[in-house]
Amino acid sequence: MRKAIVYALVHHGNTDKIVKSIAEECQVDLIDAVKQSDADLRSYDMIGFASGIYFSKFHQSILKFAEKNLSDDKKVFLICTYGGSANYRSIEQILDKKHASVVGKFGCKGYDTFGPFKLVGGIAKGHPDDKDIQNAVEFVKDL
Ligand SMILES: Cc1cc2nc3c(=O)[nH]c(=O)nc-3n(C[C@H](O)[C@H](O)[C@H](O)COP(=O)(O)O)c2cc1C
Repeated sequence: MRKAIVYALVHHGNTDKIVKSIAEECQVDLIDAVKQSDADLRSYDMIGFASGIYFSKFHQSILKFAEKNLSDDKKVFLICTYGGSANYRSIEQILDKKHASVVGKFGCKGYDTFGPFKLVGGIAKGHPDDKDIQNAVEFVKDL
């Protein structure tokens, strides 16, 4: 089964840490949506979209990438890191239009120093930690 994960390296590389650990233990191709706005996803059996949450949404690079490159009726899984809470709505709106089936979702805390949080040294310090990373790897292995 061919799997790819489309991800974005942005705020503190929190999501990047998770995705790179998954790639070390599972057979997946990684696509950085910040560097690469297009890819042919048709040959993959399952596609993951992984992102931090920014103003309650997946990163714009991921949303644009999915809108542009995801073909209809694909199996998809979602991974996010967040300072406060997970929110999959932005990507799910695109997936609905493309009749994708979401086979699993994984989220965990990610170190956040945005805006006022910087003044207090950030929130969710130390995350993703080893346990978060292991949980993410297990999540993909179990798909
Ligand atoms: C501009 C900005 C906006 C953010 N908005 C939210 C938000 O709406 N909800 C939330 O839970 N976390 C929010 N965060 C925290 C990030 O989702 C969190 O730090 C995440 O792990 C960042 O992932 P990354 O390091 O892979 O970019 C925001 C961070 C930034 C920089």
